[in-house]
Amino acid sequence: MKKSHKDETTLVTAGREPFAHFGAVNTPVFRASTILFPTHAALKARTQPFIYGRRATPTTRALEEALTELESGTRTVLVPSGLAACTLALLSFCKAGDHIVVSDGVYGPTRHFCDTILRRWGIETTYVAPCDTAAWRKAIRDNTALFYLESPSSLTFEVQDLPLLAAEARPHGIKILIDNTWATPLLFKPLELGADIVIEAITKYIGGHSDLTMGSVTANKDAADALLDMHGHLGLTVGGDDAYLALRGLRTLATRLKRHAETGLTLARWLGARPEVTRVLHPALPDDPGHEIWRRDFRGTSGLFAFELKPCPPDALSRFLDGLQHFGMGYSWGGFESLIVPAQIARTAAYHAPQGPLLRISAGLEEAGDLIADLEAAFARFAAP
Ligand SMILES: Cc1ncc(COP(=O)(O)O)c(C=O)c1O
Repeated sequence: MKKSHKDETTLVTAGREPFAHFGAVNTPVFRASTILFPTHAALKARTQPFIYGRRATPTTRALEEALTELESGTRTVLVPSGLAACTLALLSFCKAGDHIVVSDGVYGPTRHFCDTILRRWGIETTYVAPCDTAAWRKAIRDNTALFYLESPSSLTFEVQDLPLLAAEARPHGIKILIDNTWATPLLFKPLELGADIVIEAITKYIGGHSDLTMGSVTANKDAADALLDMHGHLGLTVGGDDAYLALRGLRTLATRLKRHAETGLTLARWLGARPEVTRVLHPALPDDPGHEIWRRDFRGTSGLFAFELKPCPPDALSRFLDGLQHFGMGYSWGGFESLIVPAQIARTAAYHAPQGPLLRISAGLEEAGDLIADLEAAFARFAAP
């Protein structure tokens, strides 16, 4: 059924039923393992909306339903981290003896999972350059079960042509899985463009406050049963308090993302004009190689991007990073505070490796001028010990 309202409104209304909770605006935190049945007949019928806390509570269900609506999916499951969402999705759609094709630009721990656990269980992975559609086509074998995409790529931000890759995969019965954490369901709707399964690290923009780890996997109609089955067998669940935090993050996602995007672009343009910077990797910049596909398929940008410095001695990089006032150094992103980290890239397919250090920025909600002043001081330290 076509929705009558926009995502921004869904963010406010989804998963809320105030008058089922004495008028309280937010769905309360339900902490439940045991859920009681009033009669033997009810116990046997198992038709109550909630049966056991691991499976769902009103709080987790509210979050699942909101995400399903935003992703244009059929069912969503919640897991305790973004990585668990990546691994659950993989486990749900391949088995011993299968072959899978994975983007070479995928999030490092996802790659590690393929190279260790999946390999041990007899599943072979081929990595292909994210944007080389011919290589994806050539990688297909009789036993290829899935394509795993992440667009834009982790650290290097290549934008993949999802509709084209889906068209390659579909005639072979290959499922398309995609990590959509960079864009969130607000800026990119993979299930509308040919993907079967979409993964979100809720830890990032949806949580938005650097105090929560969680992941979600949303499936289309054909993929929903296999996903629910694996999720149930693995006994994955999230607590009510965490689901509440994720719902709270969701309410302000559109407003925060606009600001992250604006500040990110301001920083990216400013960095692009610096003589110390050789390249800015940001799909919303017109000269980025992925810009046209990004413009065609995405509804906006988030605030995560990277830039490459000219080759420099390691201590110059340390001088640049040490002493930053507003940028923290930490291995996450998508929170309200700005972050910067040097990127460690592991690639096995054809790739034009950076000559100098690559730094990833997560633009926070601070005032852009303050962030620029902080970077300007970093460049001064970089130049002069
Ligand atoms: C693209 C992407 N997917 C998944 C994850 C994993 O999320 P989490 O840290 O919640 O496990 C991350 C974390 O950085 C990520 O960047």
